[in-house]
This record gives sequence, structure tokens and C-alpha cells, in this order.
Amino acid sequence: MQKRTPRRTSIRRLFGTIFAAAVVVGSVAVAPQAAQGQAAEVKTAEQVFKNITQLKGTPADQLTPAMQFIASSLGVECGFCHVQGKPEADDKPQKKTARDMMAMQASINKDSFRGQRQVTCYSCHRGSARPVNMPPVLESDAPAHAAPATAPPAGAASTVDSIVEKYVTAVGGADAIKRVTSRVMKGSIVAGGNETPIEVITKAPNKRVSITHNASGESFTAFDGTAGWMGSTGRPARDMSPAESGASSLDAEFALALRLKEIFPQLRRGRPEEIGGVQCDTLNGSGPGRPAVRLYFDSKSGLLVRMVRYAETPLGRIPTQIDYADYRDVDGVKVAFRWTLARPNGRFTIQIAEAKANVPVEDAKFAKPASEVK
Ligand code: HEC
Ligand code: HEC
Repeated sequence: MQKRTPRRTSIRRLFGTIFAAAVVVGSVAVAPQAAQGQAAEVKTAEQVFKNITQLKGTPADQLTPAMQFIASSLGVECGFCHVQGKPEADDKPQKKTARDMMAMQASINKDSFRGQRQVTCYSCHRGSARPVNMPPVLESDAPAHAAPATAPPAGAASTVDSIVEKYVTAVGGADAIKRVTSRVMKGSIVAGGNETPIEVITKAPNKRVSITHNASGESFTAFDGTAGWMGSTGRPARDMSPAESGASSLDAEFALALRLKEIFPQLRRGRPEEIGGVQCDTLNGSGPGRPAVRLYFDSKSGLLVRMVRYAETPLGRIPTQIDYADYRDVDGVKVAFRWTLARPNGRFTIQIAEAKANVPVEDAKFAKPASEVK
């Protein structure tokens, strides 16, 4: 416990990258419901930033996500292309190359893929600044190609309706789900080997706040039923971007199982997949004001084991994967006591130790403070 300071910094940095970095979920073209009441006029990147040539016309709040997409695709930090504190400067040749590459990506997709964004920085770079242009030699005498994946076991083909229905039943059934209207959970968030106490409070239909108790104070990530905000002790709270808010609104859905078809008017069956040896049925969902998602249901238990949300950026999509585990019964409803959120640039796990259902919680608990967070 000597390393208090580094621990604090690393948690803060983690939250910085994971939440604050405007990452991006939801599609550019659709105004999220959560954005209602925010300024209707969307500023473009060139109106807000100083030296934009390739990303002209994209919404300004998509610039940071696009930069994160690039950095993850090449496996580099911002400083690979930018002079510290002067992102508009063109001093580094890598920045110029990156501009040429953006133009190249656009023309490959236009000329060879009917304008669909099939090729991105990641297609070639695969996490390295220098793409490889030769297949590697075989490093062991194991067979070069693994045995073909076995076909999923035959059985009655599941449909969107049967998957959703099975999920509702697995969670406890519609009646049990509706009898619970709030939940107060306590546990810890584990990131980079450090553990910090956390509280997660949720209330039907869609309010949620998580409070991390750091050595230096508290950090809040909240959705008030309409919009998301974040803050930490002694600093002014800030609104989430519409994209972040759209993602956060999903976490806040109190009875996700009952609301799936409503939230995602387009809900289609995906190919069955295996996660860690568990056979899963999958659904792909999209709808206004929400990020596109892929949902994985344990085909035996019916429970949701993974949600991947896709954040659009002007250059490609950034995935956020949430794995749900350790389902336990809390007043007749199955609740995941552990979830791991992972992105290209970081991950953390929340482990709940205790959960109480139907605890009275005031709406004020979820509201963004008018001034700084106390
Ligand atoms: C591989 C190179 C590369 C990396 C890595 C990169 N950027 Fe950029 N960045 C660019 C290019 C190129 C532009 C200009 C885009 C254009 O002309 O439309 C830019 C523009 C910007 C701008 C706008 C500056 C202005 O006022 O014109 C900001 C801010 C920025 N980047 C931040 C970041 C951050 C933060 C990161 C790390 C997450 C990052 N960039 C990583 C290449 C990069
Ligand atoms: C079609 C394949 C392809 C795509 C797509 C692609 N690149 Fe590249 N990129 C390359 C190759 C190949 C090189 C190495 C050229 C060399 O070695 O001289 C390279 C080099 C670079 C470099 C210089 C690296 C260094 O070490 O100086 C940067 C920066 C870069 N790419 C950024 C990007 C960005 C940003 C994107 C997406 C907008 C992108 N690239 C998309 C193939 C690609």
C-alpha cells in the first residue's frame, strides 16, 4: 500500500482514456435521443481545430475518436505524429504521411470497394507503424493451418424472438424483472492490478451512476435518464458527448432484457459464435441514438455474456467489449456481479460484492451538479 500516488494516477489516467476521451459510440448521422436539449448546430472539425485538411466536414466531436482509432491501429501514442501541446503543427513527417494515408484509404475504398469502408488503417497496420508485406515463416512444426472450426451443434434454429424470450426467462421472467425498480451495488473496480472501491446505483427505467472512491475523492460516471455526465471531486462536472451519452444510456437500461426490441428496432440474428468454449447465439442491433451492438447469449443458459458496441469514427469503428459474468440472484432477478470493459486502449473489471434491490434512491443522486462536484 506504499504506492498510493501512482495508483491514483493510473486510475485517473485510465478513466481519462476510457471515458473522457469522447470515445465515441453511436453513429454520426443520427442525433441521439440523449442529445435533445443540447445545441442543435454541429460544428465541423475545421471550425473548431486549426489545421484540418483531410477530415473537413466531419463533426468536431469525431476528431478525438478518429485520432484514437489511428493511434490504436498503428500501436503508437499521439506524440508519434504530434509535437506535445501543438497538435496543429505539421513539424513531424509522420503527420504528413498520415494525411496521405487518409487520402489513400478513401480512394481505395472508393475505387475498389464501392465506397464502403472495407479498408482502414488497421487493415494494413495491424497495430504497428510499419506494415508487413510478406507472410511470416513458420515458427514451429505445428500444422500451418488449424483444423477447421466445427459446425455448431444441430438443433432447432433460434430466432430473434426465441433468443430474446430465452434471455428474459433466464434473467427471471418479465414479472420478476418488473418487480425490481432500483439496485444499489458495492464492489471494486480493478485496473492495472489496482483495486478501488466502487458503488453502482441504478434505477428504473434508465438512471445510473457509478461512484469510484479514490484516495483523492470521488469520480462519477452517470446517466440521468436523458443525458450522461462525468465528474470528480473539486472539478466541474462535464456533459458527455452525444456519442458517449448514447453508449452510457445502454448501460443505464434497467430492464435491458424487456427493452431490447424497443431499443434496437433493427435486431437481426448473427452467426453463432464461441466465447471461451461457450457456444453463443448472437444478435446484431441498431437503432436511433444508440451505438450499433452485437450481443452474445449463452445458448445453454440464455444469459447475456457479451455486448460489443461499435463507435463510429470518420476513419473506422472502435469496439468496446463488455463481458458479463458471475450472475447471481438478487430478489428473483439474475444480475451480473462481474463485468469487464475492454477497448483497444484499456480495460477494467468491476466485481460486485453485494447488491440490494428496491432500495429507495432519490432522482437527485443521478443529476449533474450545477457547479463543481462535491
Ligand atoms: C499517425 C499520426 C497521428 C497520430 C498517432 C495522432 N494524430 Fe492527431 N492528427 C494527425 C493528422 C494527420 C491530423 C490532421 C488531420 C487533417 O488534416 O484533417 C491530426 C490532427 C489532430 C488535431 C487537430 C489539431 C488542429 O488544431 O488542427 C488534434 C487535436 C489531434 N490530432 C490530436 C491527437 C491526439 C490526442 C492523438 C492521440 C490520441 C493523435 N492526435 C494521434 C495525425 C495523427
Ligand atoms: C493499404 C495499406 C495501408 C493503409 C490502409 C494504411 N497504411 Fe499507413 N502505411 C502503409 C505502408 C505499407 C507503410 C510503410 C511505408 C514505408 O515503409 O515506407 C505505411 C506507413 C505509414 C506511416 C509512416 C510510419 C513511420 O514509421 O514513419 C504512417 C504515419 C501511416 N502509415 C499512417 C496511416 C494511417 C493514419 C492510416 C489510416 C488513415 C494508414 N496509414 C493506412 C500501408 C497502409
